[in-house]
Amino acid sequence: MKVPESGMPNETYWESLFDIPLILDRLNIDRSVGEVAELGCGYGTFTIPVAQRISGPLFTFDIEASMIARTRSRAADEGVLNITPALRDVLSLGFGLHPESCDAVLLFNILHFPRPEKLVRQAAAVLRLGGRVLAIHWRSDLQTPRGPPVHLRPKRADASRWADAAGLTVTATVDLPPWHFGVALTKNAIPPV
Ligand SMILES: C[S@@+](CC[C@H](N)C(=O)[O-])C[C@H]1O[C@@H](n2cnc3c(N)ncnc32)[C@H](O)[C@@H]1O
Repeated sequence: MKVPESGMPNETYWESLFDIPLILDRLNIDRSVGEVAELGCGYGTFTIPVAQRISGPLFTFDIEASMIARTRSRAADEGVLNITPALRDVLSLGFGLHPESCDAVLLFNILHFPRPEKLVRQAAAVLRLGGRVLAIHWRSDLQTPRGPPVHLRPKRADASRWADAAGLTVTATVDLPPWHFGVALTKNAIPPV
């Protein structure tokens, strides 16, 4: 099932809406991060720069063939070799990766549907101990130039409910100016009581 309100505007416009280096810095995406999974590569807006920062492979999925094709072509043009794009309905099928294989799962601009806990559990299942679900989304407390209707947008406070449902711990909540916030949910060795 395609997430409602997850269609994309023009690529250049979309990519003018984010400070990508700031987002990746504040989410601590660097060489210490190995294998990564991403739900919804879109144009590869985050896929390409994340792949360039990490030390492992990046498995990215999208339900739209045109988005997979665009991301694959950008990766080839930029000589980024550690990206594996695949057409997949992740909401219906999960990630299809080995359990406990990933250091991070990226859920960027996607968690605006009812009861995303199942998806967060699917993401948690592929995280190794110490791995993180990293989610960003449009803020609801600002007028933003784009984004799904405010009543559909997840809020920062929702993160603890997602974490509880998936046996994760909220370890960071950050502003990602100009329009986004981000959260990190970490898989601990000992689940919180
Ligand atoms: C709003 S875009 C965000 C893309 C990218 N994460 C970003 O922030 O630039 C959401 C993407 O998720 C994809 N998508 C929606 N539902 C999906 C599903 N069930 N499985 C895989 N991809 C999905 C859409 O096709 C779209 O490319």
